[in-house]
Amino acid sequence: MNASAPRPDLMRFFLKTYGCQMNERDSEAVEAVLLECGHRRADCENDADLVLVNTCSVRGKAEDKALGKLGLLVATKREKPERIIGALGCMVQRLGSSLLDRVPGLDLAVGTHRLVRLPEIVEQAARGDGPVVVVDEAERPAEVLSGRARRGPSAFVTILLGCERRCTYCIVPAVRGREWSRPGADVIEEVSRLAAGGVREVTLLGQSVMAYGRRNEVWPGNYTSGRGYREPLTRLLEAVGAVDGIERVRFTSGHPSGCTPELARAMAEIPEVCQHLHLPLQSGSDRILEKMKRGYSVRDYRLAVERLREAVPDMALTTDIIVGFPTETGAEFEMTRRFCAEIGFDNAFIFKYSPRPDTPAAGWTDDVPAQEKIRRNQVLLEDQNARCAAVYRSMPGTVVKVLVSGLSARNRARWTGRTRTNRIVVFEPAVGVKAGDTVRVRIEKAMPQSAFGVIERAAK
Ligand code: 5AD
Ligand code: SF4
Repeated sequence: MNASAPRPDLMRFFLKTYGCQMNERDSEAVEAVLLECGHRRADCENDADLVLVNTCSVRGKAEDKALGKLGLLVATKREKPERIIGALGCMVQRLGSSLLDRVPGLDLAVGTHRLVRLPEIVEQAARGDGPVVVVDEAERPAEVLSGRARRGPSAFVTILLGCERRCTYCIVPAVRGREWSRPGADVIEEVSRLAAGGVREVTLLGQSVMAYGRRNEVWPGNYTSGRGYREPLTRLLEAVGAVDGIERVRFTSGHPSGCTPELARAMAEIPEVCQHLHLPLQSGSDRILEKMKRGYSVRDYRLAVERLREAVPDMALTTDIIVGFPTETGAEFEMTRRFCAEIGFDNAFIFKYSPRPDTPAAGWTDDVPAQEKIRRNQVLLEDQNARCAAVYRSMPGTVVKVLVSGLSARNRARWTGRTRTNRIVVFEPAVGVKAGDTVRVRIEKAMPQSAFGVIERAAK
């Protein structure tokens, strides 16, 4: 075939992603596999023959957004009947074929564990065999779709699928299923490939990443860690840090029970491991934590933080908080506020509780009025914004190492990158500096959510 003649089976695709970093990573891999098949990225959604929405189920609002988007997309098929509209990810995993009742006219739907089959499913849908719905099949284990379509110095790597914590508000265990950890050798292989392609920073992902290696073997029996680590995650951090070209290693999300003395030691000893941890707190009240079945008390959380900070004094912590959990009183909310101030989080994602189907909490009366949830959310957000601004105000005069990520999205005349503590730094471009370099930046000015500075020199 003439290489320049368009092939009718090749499509221009557009992918919209909701949800967490795992979803972002899955979307990157989906793009890579579609590009490998010869499909091309569309410049915008309107130009695409294939539009995919990678969905999230974690909160009701996330599902409503995806449903709304899918509904609008399906409606465009009236003008463009050839167009293929598909849903991917968590909502498909959760709802299976019943998603089609909510979005009639959908051409395909693929769950989180079966994304590897997307190319053949797209082909089937293009042949008019739709709607094609693929979710888990009992006999096949979960498959990790690896691959990366976008360039840049930072990449996500999934190391743990599923979650078995069973927090009473959370839909993830029902959606993402049983825990399964990728063998260490697989992870190292993927990281090595990424590093060879120019990646300098990897973030290891799992819903509850510190459970890595808990349910299945990830290291062969004769594996020895150079630093004598015995825990699966610390061994992995050491091995990933040792990959040629990798300068920074992060992992998320954490849990206080996983903040063992060995993890604290590893975070202090392994030079590539960054001084930042995302450690969801959810609430600062023991009664609410108990009702959430989080598996720790406020005291346990404090001890975990103390242990980490003793080993790594400049450790930055970020967190997730749910406000308005069933029966949360105003006084309990104030405990959360006080505890957030005590820990001094760099950043916090604050969510209003929303009941999710088939979770224990959904059976309880959602008794905090909507207006009160909004108020608590705003109060905590204002507290956090003030704390975040104070963090940046403390930076002028210091010199920080920044991994250059690229042009600043806000101001194209400036560059941006992050510190090892995950703070955002904006700086003037300098000759010879490119994405993926590590530079030393002298901070001159603080903004509410970033710091501005000038490059001193490359910091290898
Ligand atoms: N309602 C509100 N927030 C939720 N989260 C998870 N489930 C719910 C829910 N039902 C939040 C938690 C979690 C983050 C990913 O989403 O804070 O850490
Ligand atoms: Fe959303 Fe959870 Fe799925 Fe991530 S794993 S996309 S947060 S439901």
